[in-house]
Amino acid sequence: MTTEKPFSQACENNKQAILDILKQVFDKPATVWEIGSGTGQHACHFAQHLPHLTWQPTDRAGNIAGIRLWLGEAGLSNLQAPLMLDVADADWPCDSVDALFTANTLHIMSLREVELLFERLARYLALDARVCIYGPFNYRGGYTSDSNARFDQWLKQQNPHSCIKHFERIRGLASAIGLELLADHAMPANNRLLVFQRQTRRRNHAVGFGG
Ligand SMILES: C[S@@+](CC[C@H](N)C(=O)[O-])C[C@H]1O[C@@H](n2cnc3c(N)ncnc32)[C@H](O)[C@@H]1O
Repeated sequence: MTTEKPFSQACENNKQAILDILKQVFDKPATVWEIGSGTGQHACHFAQHLPHLTWQPTDRAGNIAGIRLWLGEAGLSNLQAPLMLDVADADWPCDSVDALFTANTLHIMSLREVELLFERLARYLALDARVCIYGPFNYRGGYTSDSNARFDQWLKQQNPHSCIKHFERIRGLASAIGLELLADHAMPANNRLLVFQRQTRRRNHAVGFGG
């Protein structure tokens, strides 16, 4: 069975604005693990423009063939072959993660999957690791725009477990594993780019999980 090369117009629209911030956040050599790489377009763009980084795309099994097509055409030596990774997997295909990026994934995941993402990060994230999370978020219990409200309705029709997550909830989950919020950037089309850094390897998990 042949795979058609996937394409995301949203990636083309947002990749430059995201890159401008990643340049500042990931300013030292590191391997960046990308969760939910989708088509692979972001991986190619960021690896090309951030040559001091090694980029490690990952996604669930169904997207790996499409990512391979993009990576094959890009031919970049700092772009690793995509790995299968579902955040719910008990074991991730790595020993540790020293930088992490994910775009437009948290609103696709169920809340439980988002919790599992942070539970896994508690185990794998290195001290001082930076984490960038791009996508739409709600603040103070409400939508930030009418278009996000409509998008949320559409998401729930596609999958009752998908929805825009609350910023405060994400910050709580992050805080519980020692991730401090460094910045919350307003991005085009009512999206945000949250930047965290791990301050402590372990602390108690009183905040954020469960409930
Ligand atoms: C809307 S797409 C975004 C893709 C890409 N990051 C982008 O910005 O275009 C959502 C992505 O999240 C991935 N995803 C959803 N649930 C996931 C999970 N439990 N573990 C890992 N990836 C997941 C999907 O496979 C898909 O690639």
